[in-house]
Amino acid sequence: MKQLRVMTIFGTRPEAIKMAPLVQELSRRPGVESLCCVTAQHREMLDAVLRIFRLQPDYDLDIMEPRQTLSTITSKCLTGVERVLQEARPDLVLVHGDTSTTFSAALAAFYQQVKVGHVEAGLRTYDKYSPFPEEMNRTLVGDIADLHFCPTPANRENLTREGIQEGVFLTGNTVIDAMATTVRKDFSFTTELLNELDYQGRRVILVTCHRRENYGEPMAHIMTALRRLVEDHPETELVYPVHLSPVVREAAGQYLSGHPRIHLIDPLDVEEMHNLMARCYLVMTDSGGLQEEAPALGKPVLVLRRETERPEAVAAGTVKLAGTEEEAVYRLGAELLEDPEAYAKMAHAVNPYGDGRACERIGDAIEWSFGLRPEPPEPFQA
Ligand code: UD1
Ligand code: UDP
Repeated sequence: MKQLRVMTIFGTRPEAIKMAPLVQELSRRPGVESLCCVTAQHREMLDAVLRIFRLQPDYDLDIMEPRQTLSTITSKCLTGVERVLQEARPDLVLVHGDTSTTFSAALAAFYQQVKVGHVEAGLRTYDKYSPFPEEMNRTLVGDIADLHFCPTPANRENLTREGIQEGVFLTGNTVIDAMATTVRKDFSFTTELLNELDYQGRRVILVTCHRRENYGEPMAHIMTALRRLVEDHPETELVYPVHLSPVVREAAGQYLSGHPRIHLIDPLDVEEMHNLMARCYLVMTDSGGLQEEAPALGKPVLVLRRETERPEAVAAGTVKLAGTEEEAVYRLGAELLEDPEAYAKMAHAVNPYGDGRACERIGDAIEWSFGLRPEPPEPFQA
């Protein structure tokens, strides 16, 4: 007999990757009825994750449109999730991170007076325009949520500072749980280029860049620096799985196409991405998720942003903030290619973000909060 109905709601690729192991964990629990709703804020990039983790959503709002604005995503999610909640009547809604889906699903649940659990809670830059709109999304969800699942102690301290102390759990990040099932030594790629690359003899730079606050001039600076890095270093191969956003694809085409050692490819499925990351020399990215994954694999990361809400790997020495100015990005990239000592200092595996047991702790914390378990989980020890 299921005692607790939990609905997980997500819409974009990174939310799906980080929620998939949690949906699987909840589905295994005898006391929990696990339901899954996708907004499909992303379509193809979401479906690729659903396929890999064999998830079949119970509800699919299918809201994506090309070049969608923040207001259209938010309003379509808000009304769509309201209908789903009225039909399914869950006891708890789980949202993840900081996307427009996250914020609007949390708000829709609040309007229906359904409790909200926030996975990946407490990340902050305290700059409301960077990352935009994510910083405001996650801050607002912090106010709405009843349960807060913080990956790291610093995330929990942020919530404490904001006066949020009830229902806070230190769990680690679920992305480390996801990586336990995707990274394999004998992995063979379906993208032929990735099988053909010489990972020992060449230096493979893995790049992603998609953030809204980098649209326009920052992206032009970053991409110009990347092209110069490849031109000046004949031993490099740059692999950039380009996000499906038309704005990003236009910029990548304009600044990075037509070079034999720059490979602009379609988004990779998550298994290919994680295994490419495990084999590459260096990661240059403005992604949040890659900043958590690459340190676990011992890969240096240059963050193509002005700030980061993930300071733990910076403190551990495996991640550096490169900013978005052409000279700074070029200089830090060149240093890692030319100075073996600088490279060795950054290339060691650290795991400040999790130990692979975040989903188990979140499941236990939910059951404890609803009286189905006598003790809360032990906190994640970073
Ligand atoms: C969204 C999130 C961002 C997250 C990113 C992960 C918001 C405001 N932003 O940004 O926090 O880091 O996802 O990738 O929630 N598109 C497709 N097919 C897809 C996915 C996207 O064609 O499968 C195109 C569409 O034209 C869409 C555009 O990409 O309009 C942008 O997608 P959107 O979800 O609005 O923003 P992202 O930049 O992906
Ligand atoms: N990712 C992927 N294929 C790609 C690029 C990224 O599977 O081509 C994965 C990546 O490993 C990480 C997540 O998508 O788990 C990060 O998503 P993204 O960078 O789009 O969003 P962010 O983390 O910045 O919100």
